[in-house]
Amino acid sequence: MTDLRDYLRRLESRGEVLHVEEPLSARYEIAAALKMFDGKQVLMFDDVKDYESGVVGGVCGTRERILDALNVSPENLYPRLLDAGKNPVQCEIGDGPVKEVIVDNPGLGDFPILTHFQGDPGPYITSGIVYAKSPDGSVENVSFHRLLVLDEKRMAIRIVPRHLYRITQMAREAGLDSLDVSISIGVHPAVYVSSALPQSFGTREFDVANNLLDGGLKLTECPHVDALAPADAELVLEGRIKLNENATEGPFVDLSGTADVQRQQPVVELVGAMHREDYMYEALLPASSEHRLLMGMPPEVRIWEYVRNVVPTVRGVNMTMGGMGWLHCVVSFEKFREGDPKNVLMAMFAAHPSLKHAWVVDADIDPYNMEEVEWAMATRFRGDKDLMVIPNVRVSSLDPVSDQEKELGCKTGFDATKPIGLEGGFERPDIPISDEVRKLLEAYSRRT
Ligand SMILES: Cc1cc2nc3c(=O)[nH]c(=O)nc-3n(C[C@H](O)[C@H](O)[C@H](O)COP(=O)(O)O)c2cc1C
Repeated sequence: MTDLRDYLRRLESRGEVLHVEEPLSARYEIAAALKMFDGKQVLMFDDVKDYESGVVGGVCGTRERILDALNVSPENLYPRLLDAGKNPVQCEIGDGPVKEVIVDNPGLGDFPILTHFQGDPGPYITSGIVYAKSPDGSVENVSFHRLLVLDEKRMAIRIVPRHLYRITQMAREAGLDSLDVSISIGVHPAVYVSSALPQSFGTREFDVANNLLDGGLKLTECPHVDALAPADAELVLEGRIKLNENATEGPFVDLSGTADVQRQQPVVELVGAMHREDYMYEALLPASSEHRLLMGMPPEVRIWEYVRNVVPTVRGVNMTMGGMGWLHCVVSFEKFREGDPKNVLMAMFAAHPSLKHAWVVDADIDPYNMEEVEWAMATRFRGDKDLMVIPNVRVSSLDPVSDQEKELGCKTGFDATKPIGLEGGFERPDIPISDEVRKLLEAYSRRT
């Protein structure tokens, strides 16, 4: 199972997909529906006003669905992602269903690209993963980049200075005026997760996804540009990043749910496309739980790695939804020594420099359940002993209350673990019932 459709069929069979049959517009209406069902079911829009193809959204909208798609248990998520990054498996190259329709002269208006929020400057592709390679072919890269539709043939691409940026620099130095890219939309969640994970420069993230998909991911050569894309994607746009042409990108509603600033960013010219006969356009609502989970997962992996150097048993790491998957994190671990929690807090801040508030809780607290975390704060945290305040430190550009000009703010850590030596009031007794009664109650809870 390596494509989006197979995974959606699995979700359909479990009743996790809701079909919206009434016609809705790609301009605001589908975004509003995605917002209403954020973190709940996957939505399939079978009838999109003015378009023949359908739209699907919210696929990676819950942690459980991501784990399910990757076929891993919560405890195995981080080791599995680290292993896949260290051991990429080269994808086979060949043809596939994305080549059912090859479009020689597409226009961006042909595709149901969503306009999400009031104030957006136009339709935004938010679920596109961009493949590019260096002019000498030695370095390949795949990463998420939002693209603002400027007109029928041009988009503005947001490129944070990382690997794609380095490849554009290499292309400039080689004297080129454009760089071929593929933009894949509608792929298996493992391909999306891999594209969000930072790897060493030169790792082709498709091969990381291929490890996660047990060697089943096939790539295909694009017909109009020198680029590869998943052979079983729903839709692939073929483009050229114009290395000497910029356009205004933004304002874009980012992770925080507030509008990001406008920037001058490179233009991508659309030169071709390919898609399945009955392709689905995959939507990803900005600031949704899907956006936050995919952004928060890479820091979770790094925090897990760093914290494991400090304490042996980590139950879980949660870049929380309320902290927009970026500013807040909870780590649950088995505490052996009184000094451990503050070391864990320091490891968390070191692993993810954008982190603003960090919580550590004991292993009996589920870090993914914020009501439990709050309970731990209420019963195990003392403001005079368990607070760690680090003033005048670099903070995230997504933290509006900090000094953005100097990038200075305050980081705060909360040790909500049980103090060793203090007895009483920390354990929560279970209700003793037989296995038979437990199974009966579980069957009832599944029915609701
Ligand atoms: C949903 C989503 C949207 C993203 N949008 C962008 C973007 O517009 N521009 C960008 O440079 N990075 C964006 N990122 C982050 C990159 O995909 C991420 O940092 C990736 O690891 C970079 O790959 P690289 O290490 O190969 O450079 C986004 C990530 C996610 C999950």
